[in-house]
Amino acid sequence: MSLPTRKFDAVVVGAGGAGMRAALQLSEAGLKVAVLSKVFPTRSHTVAAQGGIGASLGNMGEDNWLWHMYDTIKGSDYLGDQDAIEFLCRMAPQAVYDLEHYGMPFDRNENGTVYQRPFGGHSSNFGERPVQRSVCAADRTGHAMLHTLYQRNVRANTVFFVEWMALDLIRDASGQVLGVTAMEMETGETWIFQARATLFATGGAGRIYAASTNAFINTGDGLGMAARAGIPLEDMEFWQFHPTGVAGAGVLITEGVRGEGGYLLNKDGERFMERYAPNMKDLASRDVVARAMATEIKEGRGCGKDADYILLKLDHIGVDKIEKKLPGIREIAKKFANVDPVKDPIPVVPTCHYQMGGIPTNYHGEVVVPGNGKDNNVVPGFYAAGEVACASVHGANRLGTNSLTDLLVFGKASGDSVIRYLKENPGHKDLPADAADYTMARLSRLDSQAGGESVFEVGAAMRRTMQAHCGVFRFPDLLTDGVKKIREIADRAARTEIKDKSKTFNTARIEALELDNLIEVARSTMVCADARQESRGAHDRADYPKRDDVTWLKHTLWYKDNDRLEYKAVNLKPLTAESFEPKVRSY
Ligand code: FUM
Repeated sequence: MSLPTRKFDAVVVGAGGAGMRAALQLSEAGLKVAVLSKVFPTRSHTVAAQGGIGASLGNMGEDNWLWHMYDTIKGSDYLGDQDAIEFLCRMAPQAVYDLEHYGMPFDRNENGTVYQRPFGGHSSNFGERPVQRSVCAADRTGHAMLHTLYQRNVRANTVFFVEWMALDLIRDASGQVLGVTAMEMETGETWIFQARATLFATGGAGRIYAASTNAFINTGDGLGMAARAGIPLEDMEFWQFHPTGVAGAGVLITEGVRGEGGYLLNKDGERFMERYAPNMKDLASRDVVARAMATEIKEGRGCGKDADYILLKLDHIGVDKIEKKLPGIREIAKKFANVDPVKDPIPVVPTCHYQMGGIPTNYHGEVVVPGNGKDNNVVPGFYAAGEVACASVHGANRLGTNSLTDLLVFGKASGDSVIRYLKENPGHKDLPADAADYTMARLSRLDSQAGGESVFEVGAAMRRTMQAHCGVFRFPDLLTDGVKKIREIADRAARTEIKDKSKTFNTARIEALELDNLIEVARSTMVCADARQESRGAHDRADYPKRDDVTWLKHTLWYKDNDRLEYKAVNLKPLTAESFEPKVRSY
């Protein structure tokens, strides 16, 4: 079956920081670029990023990219690829200067330089003491960044398709990627977007968990499309739980609060992080802080009548500094926790925040898959950047601020790679005759299914299962049982029905299509977590409490067909620096 077709040089799916940074690179090179987005671009989830961008500008004291690189490798619990991490940290300052020249309203010092705040896991001189490395626009950094990038893209003539959802990747028999199918959400019209290069920047999938800092749009669309097209997903067992989500609401309270001097207290008023991380304390890396909080709660030292949260104290910072540096936090605390943090502490709990894994790429943003005896064969015409991609710079645990650094550096790098590729590969390849068949079969099943499962109920079962079976601490029985349960839920997801079609317009269809993507992410997470028999970074198993570099210093690759797993080596060889050999982590 054929569909109407639009042709572009490049199609970028997703209009968050990575997608817009990549699109800008492409449009400014004179290419015809389409960006598809489920929401208006400045409402993409990057808008929720608060604390800042990690870059060793050294504006507040001595700093350099090698220290940033060391912190990122140590933060990753040595699972990050050191070539990609060197690239990230070396390119970070230029990524910030580019934004500054685009007009981003960064906070400034008295002398006019960009202000930088401390953040968890970032240190000077290889772990000696906290360093001020995060550039920010108060606690609304992502908001300022998206507006800056959007305006610049408008100037460069990027074509935005707003409220369009990409549905499936189009590959030909050789595996080359030739575009996507996509639906206009308002009308339900489905089109082919034919492209010489396709770049996924669809963000994360934090909505697989019941408690999440993620927006409702974060449904792993890029991951689902890639998995259905036979691309493996890398390191999906590693999910970051941000230490400070508002208890009961999940909304993010930036780590910048602790960067500006806030700290965590248990029910005894004890500043307990001093016990868990004597040097970095509340600014240890996120996995360490989240585990410490969960331990305090587990051992009965949580706050409140159910002893189920921790308090984040910041009143001592003073109202002036809170208003200047953390105004959004004050607003969030009032609205979602009913406390004014200039007077009272905020109740917080570790909350699902970020996926370290994703579509495997190299540091050029090219999607890579194993085959022919090699780990990293480039998939022609296919690129990924930002949270959907696994470069892998975050390994088993990402440092705060490195997500924005990642999406800027790899957004630009993937754009540059597309430009090079298009120069060498002129002209569109013909689409295969069955380019739209897979999508049309999915849509027709959804529209014709009667007596099927409710999308909401299946989604709720998935979220409950992920939360209970694959959280901050992981237990063998819960994981094994979780795999069984999530496979059953995946079977149910394949039988969903859009109830009461006459009343639900396309919202119900979109939610059903999103569930198709979420379920691939949930299944890959549970299966990979069950398989990895060690504790590393954010993956903490009660039955294997130690990191095992002999057996498990390797990346997981999950394939959708039969939940097949393969593994590939971690790249411990940087581009120019000396390797950082795995060591015991302490903060
Ligand atoms: O805490 C925060 O502001 C979040 C930052 C991040 O995830 O990088």
